[in-house]
Amino acid sequence: MSLLVEKRILLGVTGGIAAYKSCELTRLLILAGASVRVVMTRAATAFVAPLSFQALSGNPVHLDLLDSEEESAMGHIRLARWADLILIAPATADFMAKLRAGLADELLGAVCLAAEVPIALAPAMNHAMWSNPATQDNAACLVARGMSLLGPAEGGQACGESGYGRMLEPADICRAVEKFFSRSQLSGISVLISAGPTREPIDPVRYLTNRSSGKMGYCLAQAAIAAGAKVTVVSGPVALPPPYDAAVVRVESAADMFDAVMSLAPHQDIYIGTAAVADYTPVAVAEEKIKKSKESLAIQLTRTRDILAAVASLPNKPYTVGFAAETDHVEAYAKAKLEGKGLDMIAANRVGQPEGGFDSPDNALWVAWNGGETVLPLASKQTIAIQLIELISENYRAKHSTKNSG
Ligand code: PMT
Repeated sequence: MSLLVEKRILLGVTGGIAAYKSCELTRLLILAGASVRVVMTRAATAFVAPLSFQALSGNPVHLDLLDSEEESAMGHIRLARWADLILIAPATADFMAKLRAGLADELLGAVCLAAEVPIALAPAMNHAMWSNPATQDNAACLVARGMSLLGPAEGGQACGESGYGRMLEPADICRAVEKFFSRSQLSGISVLISAGPTREPIDPVRYLTNRSSGKMGYCLAQAAIAAGAKVTVVSGPVALPPPYDAAVVRVESAADMFDAVMSLAPHQDIYIGTAAVADYTPVAVAEEKIKKSKESLAIQLTRTRDILAAVASLPNKPYTVGFAAETDHVEAYAKAKLEGKGLDMIAANRVGQPEGGFDSPDNALWVAWNGGETVLPLASKQTIAIQLIELISENYRAKHSTKNSG
């Protein structure tokens, strides 16, 4: 049964092209069993007719703050009290700025100001508008006040450009909203996540690295935060905005990552190793830039220390989840890692193909633990992260209830 059954969602629609996707979002929320009331800003009505939302939600759409009839029927205070959750999708840069300033010149702003329930925003805007310091500052401030951000996602945009700023797909928003009502899943639990690539220096200007973008780890951090966890990310060099509400420790090399993870891991409940840590590093780092004097050049490499294995052999080890990136024999190699390194769970992905894996917006995982396995089929990394966090919390709780009753 969906966690949205009988939940009352007030959907705020602001004026962006992604407003058309909120029709599908309304349909999905209703299908999941929620009651939906829609409040539109004036600008939103230029993109989608209120009648569409009225037909899909089965309720009149609320538009004007000063409409006396509407005020008497269900004014901003009553709307704010009616809702279990206020979801604003799409949330434009303009609306986020107004929300931060506490403006109540339109009905939606007044409802948010009067709200005592959680508010979640699904930002949607051009990538440059999203990364503009003003918007980032507004987003950080809204999160600091307890609001939640769902996305934005990366990808092609209506303006023809590409980057972070796309509204999450309606199905992903619906899942995230569902998780809202199971926030206590990981509440009080600390989660440490390694993410991204490492850089192994050869000389002052060159290094060895890999194609990891950090997306999988950052999406897991966001999903764990949404599930109520206290999250720390140890991140290799990536070009991603930090996950909101997570502590981020930035590192470069495999040795740096080892030191950072091992100083934090003994105090954590769960460790998830998504980082693509270099298996080998140069034996020596040249002090000066290596000159191209010879026809060929050999660089001697030595094994790095295995962070995941070291965490799994701590005396008071956290619940330890490893990743396995394999081009072939995915399940067999992953199972060998699960058993060989003494892990609680392994999440394996096929890499080296066009879809999923390194530097892709999507992924698919084969997940195994002591006594079970499952497949998470190809989906956005946001969706895969929500599903994996769900599996981890179920198994973590099962392990601890056995421990406590044993
Ligand atoms: O970052 P993205 O672009 O989103 O891509 C995601 C991903 C493909 C990098 C991710 O899903 C993934 O598969 N991460 C693990 C990559 C990897 O290095 O796999 P592996 O099979 O080589 O390593 C197995 C496990 O050992 C991993 O949990 C790794 O973090 C860990 N390891 C490896 C070497 C080492 N020295 N220390 C480690 O802890």
